[in-house]
Amino acid sequence: MKYRIMGKLGIQTSAFGLGCMRFNGAASGDSVIDEDKAISLIRRAVDGGVTYLDTAYVYLDKTSETVLGKALRDGYRDRVTIATKMPAEYVHNRAEMEALLDSELKKLQTDHIDFYLMHGINKEKWLYFQSIGAPAFFDDMKKAGKIRYKCFSFHGPYEDFEYILNDWDWDMVQIQYNFMDIHNQAGTKGLELAGKKGIPVVIMEGLLGGRLSRAPGNVQALYDAFPVKRTPVEWAFRWLCNHPEVSVVLSGCNEPEQIDDNLRIFDTVESGIMTEEELKLMDSVRAAYLSRTRIGCTGCRYCMPCPNGVDIPGVFSSWNEVSLYDTNPKWDWGLRQIREKGSGADQCVGCGACEAACPQHLSIIDGLQRAWKELQADE
Ligand SMILES: NC(=O)c1ccc[n+]([C@@H]2O[C@H](COP(=O)([O-])OP(=O)(O)OC[C@H]3O[C@@H](n4cnc5c(N)ncnc54)[C@H](OP(=O)(O)O)[C@@H]3O)[C@@H](O)[C@H]2O)c1
Repeated sequence: MKYRIMGKLGIQTSAFGLGCMRFNGAASGDSVIDEDKAISLIRRAVDGGVTYLDTAYVYLDKTSETVLGKALRDGYRDRVTIATKMPAEYVHNRAEMEALLDSELKKLQTDHIDFYLMHGINKEKWLYFQSIGAPAFFDDMKKAGKIRYKCFSFHGPYEDFEYILNDWDWDMVQIQYNFMDIHNQAGTKGLELAGKKGIPVVIMEGLLGGRLSRAPGNVQALYDAFPVKRTPVEWAFRWLCNHPEVSVVLSGCNEPEQIDDNLRIFDTVESGIMTEEELKLMDSVRAAYLSRTRIGCTGCRYCMPCPNGVDIPGVFSSWNEVSLYDTNPKWDWGLRQIREKGSGADQCVGCGACEAACPQHLSIIDGLQRAWKELQADE
């Protein structure tokens, strides 16, 4: 296992951090956890050198922290740092924040949390956390020794990230980042900004929830043609660890083989190790993925609202996503939401109001029909 120093905190961490959100292949919050298996996976990772464990109040129907607490009995707690999170949706005042944190400490069977994060915030959620006094609460809990570091995990546009990062003296930040997301969410710009400020960065979705572990044909062909043979997972982690600003790369593992594979990979990856040729390969891989884009919708929403309630950018985003990563539409979260709300392309009556408004001059009516047909295909 390679270890890294966490920016201005100056503490050492394993480069691989185990995410405790997906045991048994479960998406967050919607499945029953196999406790014995999860405990054995966590201990396998720690025995292999992992010192950073990430969970959250809401993961796996609120059972993730409990299972992690059990896994860290028998002396394992002293060998690791724990990151967990406070969700904005569950707290409205200081008393509720106190109660929530205490319940997390109890479930985790510990007297302190190392990294305490405001969970999945954007600017709106940060303003909300401020309005209920969360910054003062985090400072007080730090003084009381219940948390060691005050942090946030981020989902939103770069502008929000810059605003939040510059608005408080954060100890650490967790962002979604991988070789496909260089211009998405915090992106490379956000990573570098945090690095300049000395704020350690923890990476989530390094494999885009597993999508980057299964390369579609045109991408695999590029990997195969490269003189050095590595798996798609190894390329993705190698690319992330090449960035000096990255302290920890989280990955959720469902099987012992995945833990072992990641332990092997994180034994070899360090910042600045990628050659020019390797970096060019990753640029070509990104381009190969992007060439699979089905429609050039930028999500500007000029076409909205649709008079018939079709979520036009949503349908196109799912269409592109499913094609890019060659995934089954059944597992596309955005598409599930669209179906639940009845805002699918089947509501389109071809009135054309959207096409008149589209700055990209897309053939939206035709695109919606084709998208809906393809998105039904694997149902
Ligand atoms: N704060 C937030 O808002 C937030 C949001 C997302 C995630 N997170 C945290 O970040 C952690 C990491 O995110 P993530 O789980 O999305 O990470 P990820 O690494 O992008 O995806 C994990 C998935 O990748 C696959 N995988 C991992 N190692 C593999 C290997 N060696 N070979 C083949 N496949 C492999 C598995 O997919 P299969 O299931 O297909 O086998 C696994 O479920 C989470 O566990 C969670 O703790 C936080």
